[in-house]
Amino acid sequence: MRDEKQKVVLIGTGFVGMSFAYALLNQNVCNELALIDVNRDKARGEAMDLNHGLAFSGANMRIYEADYDTCKDADIVVICAGVSQKPGEDRPALLQRNTAVFKSIVDPVVASGFSGIFLVATNPVDVMTHVVKTLSGFDSHRVIGTGTTLDTARLRFLLGEYFNIDPKNVHAYVIGEHGESEFVPWSQAMVGTKSVSRIVNDYGDRFKKTDMDEIGAKVKNAAQEIIAAKQSTYYGIGMALVRITKAIFGNENSILTVSSYLDGEYGQSNVYAGVPCVVGRNGVLGQLTLELTDEELSKMQNSCDILRQYYKETNL
Ligand code: 2OP
Repeated sequence: MRDEKQKVVLIGTGFVGMSFAYALLNQNVCNELALIDVNRDKARGEAMDLNHGLAFSGANMRIYEADYDTCKDADIVVICAGVSQKPGEDRPALLQRNTAVFKSIVDPVVASGFSGIFLVATNPVDVMTHVVKTLSGFDSHRVIGTGTTLDTARLRFLLGEYFNIDPKNVHAYVIGEHGESEFVPWSQAMVGTKSVSRIVNDYGDRFKKTDMDEIGAKVKNAAQEIIAAKQSTYYGIGMALVRITKAIFGNENSILTVSSYLDGEYGQSNVYAGVPCVVGRNGVLGQLTLELTDEELSKMQNSCDILRQYYKETNL
């Protein structure tokens, strides 16, 4: 049993939120989890269901349904509330529906005296994270979104398959919007300490540059493909949330492509986007700014322009 309290409040007990909660319990990440949902019976039932599995998990966690006052002594408030993406619906279409939901969440969290870290998963996640920063007034390092963390994991999985290498040894990122304008800065992609472009050039008989573009497209379309097949995605994003939570509680200073506020990096400002960040106990400690090519910088410009436009539509 950890002696220090490590408390997470989850707001929104839908598929994404409960996939996060289930993974959090099974990975024994913290020792207190409070569930908040506009449907209190749902949150109560989810807490009961998880508690009944505790004995099988080896975890030691207090799990209960609560109201917003519980946020006062929380370390992390995870927001998964919102309406989920419909098949074929793009993320901006979700924006208007989810901004209305966020207006009713952030105020009571802040009013509780919460002084920890916000972690947002609701799509369009970069914009919704920006909405939380504005509504809460918190410093940007304490307002984090899942960003392209899941996309980067999808990319590493596919590159690992392609090169027949453990994904843990693939160092490549998806950056920008978690959505249509996301992209892979291939100039920065490595397998072990060898660049992907060098491997493709040296082994042109086995690997092709066009395959890289195909993999990038597969990553970008993964969510829509899953949604078309099973209505929504939740296990991958739930586990991405746990990965970020572990980096915070473990004070790991790990590099994750969370959605972070850009204030001049890559020539961009006043926008949240997925970029490699150092994540530790106090949230985003800093960014590992990539040396992008001119072409990659223009892709980042495009992605951030789109995100600033979506954010403008929130009228905040
Ligand atoms: C995903 O990419 C739904 O945005 C989430 O799976």
